[in-house]
Amino acid sequence: MPHKNKGMEEIKYRPSVEKLYGRVKNRALTQRQAGLFESLLPSISIASFDPEILSAYQNISLEIGFGSGEHLFQLASTNPSKLFIGCEFFVNGIASLLSKIDEAGIRNIRIFQGNARKLIPEIPDNFLEYVFLLFPDPWPKRKHVYRRFVQEKTVLEIYRILRNGGFFRIATDCSQYAEWVRKVLTAPVLAEKFAIENMVNDESRPSESDWPKTRYEQKSTTECTFFSIQRNSSQ
Ligand SMILES: C[S@@+](CC[C@H](N)C(=O)[O-])C[C@H]1O[C@@H](n2cnc3c(N)ncnc32)[C@H](O)[C@@H]1O
Repeated sequence: MPHKNKGMEEIKYRPSVEKLYGRVKNRALTQRQAGLFESLLPSISIASFDPEILSAYQNISLEIGFGSGEHLFQLASTNPSKLFIGCEFFVNGIASLLSKIDEAGIRNIRIFQGNARKLIPEIPDNFLEYVFLLFPDPWPKRKHVYRRFVQEKTVLEIYRILRNGGFFRIATDCSQYAEWVRKVLTAPVLAEKFAIENMVNDESRPSESDWPKTRYEQKSTTECTFFSIQRNSSQ
């Protein structure tokens, strides 16, 4: 059924909860990486969101599509009392993060290997400190717009799982996607729910200690936009 957003292109809404768009693997794992899938991953992976298991931590954050995990790993290393959950289905990316975790011996990362859209509905209301969505696939073709992670419906879900005052951070180097984020976030149903700060590198890029660079950002040659979107408490 066609889905209309005021001031936005008409998109055909297709339920995409089950479907994954993108590569699951691009090259064979090394012996060491394959070993970490056997020895380390089972102890830090979560198959579902169980607040009981995670209750040892007061501050829990979620990264959607962590790629090779640079950002997640850096934040977890510098915030050992906080828990960071990463969702990713790209096997080589998960392998990179496992290597980093193994070398550093940190304990405060959990991995959900799969589609973040399946995990998010299990997260209780008003729960997370941060949700990160860094350099999501931009799906620039008009016919693929429905695949973009940022949609009114998904942002309403992010609003639900964030604590009052919690942050949804998005970064992109695709100007079309940045424009799309602005439009979605300012749609009537969402505008009152968030306070949006919008930064463009290089003059105002957030500090790297607060917002570590991902591999994608390190490789990007285009101007990046960073959105820091705070959940308003009163809505
Ligand atoms: C363009 S890459 C960016 C990776 C990383 N955030 C970075 O900045 O380097 C997008 C990543 O999101 C992952 N991804 C896309 N949709 C996802 C979903 N629904 N659940 C989990 N991961 C997803 C892809 O597998 C891919 O690794």
